[in-house]
Amino acid sequence: MEFWKILIIFCAGFVFVESKWNNRKREVSSSLCDPVQNNTNKVHCYCSPLAHHPELIGSAECYLTVKDVTTDDSSWDRFKLLQNISRLTLTNTRGIAMNYIPTNAIKHTKAISKLDVKYCNIEKIEPYAFANLSLVEELSLRDNQIKVLAMNAFTHHARMKTLSLDQNNIAEINRNVFVDLPSLEQLFLTANKITTIHDKAFVHLENLKELEIDKNSIFSLNNESFSGLWNLEKLELSGNSLQVIGDNTFAPLGNLRLLNLAENKIQMLDERAFNGLGRLQSISLNHNKLSALVNTKIFEGLASLTSLSLKDNVITVIEPEVIIPILSNFYRKTSQLNIEENPFNCSCKLDVFRPLINKTQNSRLNIDIQNLQCNPIDEIKQKWDILQEATKNTGQIFEDIPPQVENAAYEYYDETELNGTLFYFDMRSILNCSGDENINIPERPANTVSTQDGNMIKTIVSSNDLANTKDITSPEVSDSTSKSETTYKEKCSY
Ligand SMILES: *[C@@H]1O[C@H](CO)[C@@H](O)[C@H](O)[C@H]1NC(C)=O
Ligand SMILES: *[C@@H]1O[C@H](CO)[C@@H](O)[C@H](O)[C@H]1NC(C)=O
Ligand SMILES: *[C@@H]1O[C@H](CO)[C@@H](O)[C@H](O)[C@H]1NC(C)=O
Ligand SMILES: *[C@@H]1O[C@H](CO)[C@@H](O)[C@H](O)[C@H]1NC(C)=O
Ligand SMILES: *[C@@H]1O[C@H](CO)[C@@H](O)[C@H](O)[C@H]1NC(C)=O
Ligand SMILES: *[C@@H]1O[C@H](CO)[C@@H](O)[C@H](O)[C@H]1NC(C)=O
Ligand SMILES: *[C@@H]1O[C@H](CO)[C@@H](O)[C@H](O)[C@H]1NC(C)=O
Ligand SMILES: *[C@@H]1O[C@H](CO)[C@@H](O)[C@H](O)[C@H]1NC(C)=O
Repeated sequence: MEFWKILIIFCAGFVFVESKWNNRKREVSSSLCDPVQNNTNKVHCYCSPLAHHPELIGSAECYLTVKDVTTDDSSWDRFKLLQNISRLTLTNTRGIAMNYIPTNAIKHTKAISKLDVKYCNIEKIEPYAFANLSLVEELSLRDNQIKVLAMNAFTHHARMKTLSLDQNNIAEINRNVFVDLPSLEQLFLTANKITTIHDKAFVHLENLKELEIDKNSIFSLNNESFSGLWNLEKLELSGNSLQVIGDNTFAPLGNLRLLNLAENKIQMLDERAFNGLGRLQSISLNHNKLSALVNTKIFEGLASLTSLSLKDNVITVIEPEVIIPILSNFYRKTSQLNIEENPFNCSCKLDVFRPLINKTQNSRLNIDIQNLQCNPIDEIKQKWDILQEATKNTGQIFEDIPPQVENAAYEYYDETELNGTLFYFDMRSILNCSGDENINIPERPANTVSTQDGNMIKTIVSSNDLANTKDITSPEVSDSTSKSETTYKEKCSY
């Protein structure tokens, strides 16, 4: 009796083990990760083992092998096999693009920390598309033709730090798309077709540090566009279609350090456009359509600002009161102020930049200010021309100079070179700018230096010449005359 019992138990045990073994074999033979030749699944994966445990799968790159696999196809359940992987990539290796996020696959891969979806044809991200994955830290959806982000598209991802949606076709950012993402620090939306950011669209992202929405078509923002982003440090809005920056647009962003508004169509900055940005260090407004900075409070309160670019606008006038509150911000060596490529009117208002010549430790800025150009009205231009003639005809100092060199020197101030502009510091005496007599008026524009971006600054004389002529001083009234004389002399001494 005992013997039979033991035999039966033994046989039962054997059958059980055997069937388990077969089961496993069957499962393995039809798994997602099988070599391509033997794999008859609608979804394949290249599965990589873990470095220290080659028997375990660490990451997988998966793709469809047939078209028209539906969202609830049983194939997606095979992702159970990948329940412990840390990295998953979905792509179109066989040229068959997925046109939805396979939530039914992703819900099994609960351990992933990085998910990449590439080159798919996904038009819409459905609610909870990423299955509330709690361990995912990085989600990249670049280059997928996404047009619509549904409400709750990205929700309940406690550890997600980085979300990349660059290079899609997203047209607007609605409210409640980004919900319960308490760790999100970076959100990238570069190069989409975004025209509208709905009020409070980012309100749940209280830990966001970087928001990039450059290269889109945003034409308007308001005081609630960035509500809730009180930890944001970097905001990229360059390459949009903004025309006006209204009051308090950035007021929720008390921690912002860097604001890029370059390459928009900004014509107007409201008085309180930059209100609340006490920690802002850098603001780029280059390549816009600003024509006059007359609202005297625009830059007030930007106590931390050390970098400002207004390059390539159409600014004719800057009221001194606009600049005075922040002028001393640019004394530091590492500070940057760029006002190049603006058609400033020749006016004593430009004197506001004059203290920088003495006081800034940034040599590039010093030279830029010395080379500041302006457009003279006809009357001033005529006076300048008369002065030039008078200088030419004052005689003896030019007697022994060959005429072609003389012409060359004059060409430098020629309209063809400067497109009608003149050096502001040549104009000051003609404009009767009183100025502070203690401020050292530059003898001449300084020597040539190569700037950070490799451009050459337009200049006149070399540093040697500068040194040689240090002793040339002249009363302010005749300043421009003597300046052009000495400039001429030095040009000719080459
Ligand atoms: C997989 O295919 C190869 C030939 O392509 C074959 O030799 C091998 O036996 C197949 N393996 C399975 C498990 O079917
Ligand atoms: C995943 O890990 C758990 C716990 O380590 C283990 O029990 C399970 O068998 C693993 N699953 C796969 C498919 O490797
Ligand atoms: C994710 O959470 C929402 C509720 O917030 C729930 O409706 C949904 O079914 C969850 N999805 C998964 C795959 O767990
Ligand atoms: C935004 O501006 C509107 C007026 O345009 C005002 O009614 C509203 O209170 C402001 N909201 C905030 C948060 O300042
Ligand atoms: C600048 O000068 C032009 C004439 O050259 C004049 O028409 C224009 O009104 C001036 N702009 C300002 C803001 O003073
Ligand atoms: C003068 O104008 C021409 C054409 O508008 C431009 O290419 C050139 O860079 C300008 N030169 C200066 C010194 O601004
Ligand atoms: C500068 O002052 C002189 C003499 O005081 C005057 O004739 C001239 O018109 C003034 N120029 C300008 C631009 O005001
Ligand atoms: C500017 O610097 C010169 C010396 O280079 C000095 O004589 C002059 O007083 C300074 N002016 C101001 C306003 O600091």
